[in-house]
Amino acid sequence: MMADVSAPKSSDQLSVRSLVHLARFAVPFTWHFLGVVALVIVFNTTSVLQPYLVKLAIDNDIASKSFHGLEVIAVVYVSIVIIGALANYTQVVLLQYAGQSIIQRIRMALFRHIESQSMAFFDKNAIGRLVTNVSNDTETVSQFFTQFFLSVVRDGLSVVMVIFAMFRLNAGVAWQCMVIVPVIFIISFAFRKRLRVSYQTARTRLSSVVAFLAENLAGIRIIQIFHQERRQANAFLTLNDRHRQANVKSYMTSVMFNRSLDFLGNVSVAAIVYVGGLRVLHGAMEFGTLYAFISYIRQFFQPINALTQQWNNLQSSSVSADRIGRVLAVEPLVTDNKDLVNSLSDEEVRGAVEFQDVCFSYKPGEPVLTDISFRVRPGEFVGFVGPTGAGKSSIMALLTRFYDPVSGVILLDGEDIKSFLQTDLHRHIGIVQQEMFLFTGSVKDNIRLFRDDISDETVVESAKVVGAHEMIMRLPRGYETHLVGKGSNLSTGERQLLGFARIVALNPKVLILDEATANLDSQTESLVQKGLTAVAKNRTTLVIAHRLSTIRHADMIYVLSKGRIVERGNHEELVSAQGLYADLYQKSGIEFEMEQTAHP
Ligand SMILES: Nc1ncnc2c1ncn2[C@@H]1O[C@H](COP(=O)(O)OP(=O)(O)OP(=O)(O)O)[C@@H](O)[C@H]1O
Ligand SMILES: [Mg+2]
Repeated sequence: MMADVSAPKSSDQLSVRSLVHLARFAVPFTWHFLGVVALVIVFNTTSVLQPYLVKLAIDNDIASKSFHGLEVIAVVYVSIVIIGALANYTQVVLLQYAGQSIIQRIRMALFRHIESQSMAFFDKNAIGRLVTNVSNDTETVSQFFTQFFLSVVRDGLSVVMVIFAMFRLNAGVAWQCMVIVPVIFIISFAFRKRLRVSYQTARTRLSSVVAFLAENLAGIRIIQIFHQERRQANAFLTLNDRHRQANVKSYMTSVMFNRSLDFLGNVSVAAIVYVGGLRVLHGAMEFGTLYAFISYIRQFFQPINALTQQWNNLQSSSVSADRIGRVLAVEPLVTDNKDLVNSLSDEEVRGAVEFQDVCFSYKPGEPVLTDISFRVRPGEFVGFVGPTGAGKSSIMALLTRFYDPVSGVILLDGEDIKSFLQTDLHRHIGIVQQEMFLFTGSVKDNIRLFRDDISDETVVESAKVVGAHEMIMRLPRGYETHLVGKGSNLSTGERQLLGFARIVALNPKVLILDEATANLDSQTESLVQKGLTAVAKNRTTLVIAHRLSTIRHADMIYVLSKGRIVERGNHEELVSAQGLYADLYQKSGIEFEMEQTAHP
């Protein structure tokens, strides 16, 4: 189920190309990176100078008992330590600033890109994976720009500078030290693949854990209702266990590798002490030089160790970059046609809706809507009914351009809706959905959808129009009540009333109501009914009805079956036609009669 979330590309294939592609986000920080390189050079120079200064102190000043010379060396030593520390600090700040700014930019780009996608994109991409993309993958990629870049520059330079210093001091001993280089290569090579595989496995398993968690928290209600807690907990345990094993293995491998290098480093020190010591005893080398060599050998191993760790970093960054790149590469299916932008102003739109021979399918070859044609005049109230899966919600998804039809045209005031900018279209057409979505935030902000240009008075006024005011005032903090997790602290009816208030506040010319399937108690139902009547006033209203009572007085009712309009007419006409509608009506008859007698 979650295979695609975690599946890395074949881990042997390093797609550095996607990293290079993301490098455009780093371009604005070129100067920062150049600054970092300069500061690293300063810092490395101070590190390499330190053993050399001690060597000078030992061989020149201590040997010749020069107190003044020692003082000078002490002062110079402290100065370069301070310079080194300052350079290092500034470098870290610069690099982190650049790195964090790059994550921010990539995240914003991803978020905007995902926001601009058509619904078809969300049908194909699990939300959990998109969340991982925006949160973790960006973080990992930024490590490339900070840690990887830094390590290559700093540690790479260190190695070169240390080797240079050793050859300057004593070329003969330096050559002998170079014997260890091939040994380091052999060790690294032996470990490289195991390090990479174990690290990659651990990461992959971690993303499975995260994806599982995200999906389960989103569906927590369902899990609880169907008593699947234990089962899901077991599944989670398995995932966690696999992750733990992979992580332990990854650490073991990396510790083994590090210790091997350490071991080699210490053996090298012993060798230098022996080889160099002999030279000192024979008077072929000064004692201070031996000291400097011992320090340099230590300085030599540390950056090599750090550099080899970067392999993992490069690996995971490129996998993440690849995933980000793939999301960024998806072009929205539904796009604005900037060439024929329709300039109908909000006032000019009257709200006539027309479908002409519209056919549609989510997947090629599986038609969902066939030859849908109908016309709604401004201000009319029309209903859509039909069995579940008949394509009612799909009609509305086309009208709002969540998808584009395969053939046929949809017109708003006689103009193809493709000629409107999507932002304009969405301002003209409002929707109250089957599963009314509420954002985390106050009731007030949910009604005006965070638009500052809608005043508090308008919000209250709108709520009053649809009869939601009393309900809202009964909430703990009225309009300021904080709604959590999609408004789960409200009932279906209450959420629908808030949806109506939102429509009145935002005032689109066309309203689509996809009625909730859940049964409402008769009191809430009559509240919702009244709200609907109020919100439908002076607005073209298209209602997908699950309770036939909702559309009893509609100007026109379209009956859908298997993606086709099979009957049309008003309530009386359809009942007397003895078709599908009459059937549906018969079945809902009992409730309907009760409802009618309750509210004559
Ligand atoms: N995002 C989607 N991707 C693929 N198929 C879809 C998608 N949404 C709906 N369908 C399919 O299209 C058909 C029509 O679905 P639609 O949601 O329009 O039905 P409906 O009439 O609104 O049903 P209900 O009364 O249950 O809300 C169904 O067969 C459904 O499985
Ligand atoms: Mg539906």
